[in-house]
Amino acid sequence: MLKNIKYYLLILFLIIFSVNLKSNTENIINFEGDSMLDIQITEKSFWQNDVEGYVFLLKEGLYSTGQDTDFEKVEKEYYPNLRDILSKHKFTGKFGEIFVLTGTKNNKLVQFIFAGLGKLDTTWNYELENLRRTIGSVVLKLKELEIKTAVLELPADDKPFGLIRDRLIRQVVIAALMANYEFTEFKTDKEGKEKLEYKLLIYPGDKQEQTYVLGLQEGLIIGNATNFTRMLQDLPANYLNPKALAEQAKILADEHNLECKVLGVKEAQKLGMGGFLAVSSGSDNEPQFVILEYNNDKKDVPTIALVGKGVTFDSGGISLKPSDSMTGMKFDMSGAAAVYGAFKIIAQLKPNVRVIGITPLVENMPSGKACRQDDIIRFLNGKTAEIKNTDAEGRLILADALSYAEKFYSPDVIVDIATLTGACLYALGHSFTALMTLNDDIGTKLQATGLVTGDRVWPLPLDKDFKDAIKSEVADIANIGASNYKAGTITAAWFLKNFVEKAKWAHLDIAGTADGVPGVSYLGKGATGAGVRLMSEFVLNYNKNK
Ligand code: BES
Ligand code: MG
Ligand code: ZN
Repeated sequence: MLKNIKYYLLILFLIIFSVNLKSNTENIINFEGDSMLDIQITEKSFWQNDVEGYVFLLKEGLYSTGQDTDFEKVEKEYYPNLRDILSKHKFTGKFGEIFVLTGTKNNKLVQFIFAGLGKLDTTWNYELENLRRTIGSVVLKLKELEIKTAVLELPADDKPFGLIRDRLIRQVVIAALMANYEFTEFKTDKEGKEKLEYKLLIYPGDKQEQTYVLGLQEGLIIGNATNFTRMLQDLPANYLNPKALAEQAKILADEHNLECKVLGVKEAQKLGMGGFLAVSSGSDNEPQFVILEYNNDKKDVPTIALVGKGVTFDSGGISLKPSDSMTGMKFDMSGAAAVYGAFKIIAQLKPNVRVIGITPLVENMPSGKACRQDDIIRFLNGKTAEIKNTDAEGRLILADALSYAEKFYSPDVIVDIATLTGACLYALGHSFTALMTLNDDIGTKLQATGLVTGDRVWPLPLDKDFKDAIKSEVADIANIGASNYKAGTITAAWFLKNFVEKAKWAHLDIAGTADGVPGVSYLGKGATGAGVRLMSEFVLNYNKNK
């Protein structure tokens, strides 16, 4: 009899285990939506390309940015009064304008797509962002009109937007791929329809350089990785719980030869990660503490830690959010997702640094097991905090993650990234990630990287004036700032500072930039992949030329 029970238990165990092995996200990680976009550099001259669409980027006043002769050909062979036609349709080359004319070439219909870049004599970074958005609008237009193949001529200037050509190509490719991203996995009406395939050819000008292809390849890697992050962000919490997200990290580590360690509740208890455990305690979904590691062959390289908040759903916990504020809280794992996207890029472009990714993954739910207001918890580094609001949970899991980074890896630099505070939306809206740091060098680098990549950051003062806001009567610190201090984004950063002792550290609050950014063609409607382009570029450049 006893033997039989053992036998049944074994079978039961095997069933549970095999169910667990199946990831419920594996089949839906598809960031191309309903269409695939193939981007190549053409070696033919502009008009020699046999395509359905010819794309012209124009400056305000209808000046061509490519070679004049390419643009003038439309005038000569198709529309002798082209400029009048464009003017009549209110197309003057201002930024945001786009206009299409149809012609016949070799007995086939072809489309001429005119896109305005605006004036090109202001500041380079502003213009470069406009270029990315124009490319985004062009891609959307190609899809709207089902123009399956098109060629785009790059600006002919020597260093347009202050960028050498391969860097320019890289930006164009990233913007095009990002514009093509769609989250349509759960739309059933498309079933049976075949996926549309688009091809965008980039004509860089007469000269062909090897580095152009490198620019293209880097652009493909960065654009695809950013869209991978957006897919993770967009997946709802009933599909993407901590286990499923950790599974994605493991798959990515396998694919790219990275080291990956995943800690569960038991290991976290042993280590004393009281913040991580308190936040996850209300959920039936087990938390996962994921550590990724990228190692370069070279010795004595600096170590950078990227730490990302991974709350797969933030209900607020016992300090429950009102319904309206709870919608969209599937995006509360955007920091962790950004770290994964950055790792995809780092693993492929192999910078001379060691990079550690630390992502605490939890679900913040109310229940009889949940942590409460007034609870006092102890973190990995020994410090204690009084929980005054269970909805300020991001900083609690990050506290353990930052401590973990310092204790086990002694990084030279830590960048943490989190959808941390609603207050951030009031400070900077959707256009800028908030940057807080006590290190000017890192801060300057991140801000400059933001301008080049379009993944922009703006500093908020991490001034001592805000430090006392998180004082507690009963513990070392409190998890929310005293209300008379306001500035919730900055007081949250001071909380985190308690868990970084040695490293140069910068904190990024992406509460506003992670999703729902209005009016940017290449970002679409939902997830944006905020931080992927920024952090990867920062890491790639950190130890260059050394
Ligand atoms: N996930 C939220 C922050 C957030 C809010 C991100 C809105 C994106 C949009 C975070 O966990 C939170 O709830 N923060 C609280 C902190 C407060 C209780 C001190 C907030 O911002 O209200
Ligand atoms: Mg949250
Ligand atoms: Zn919260």
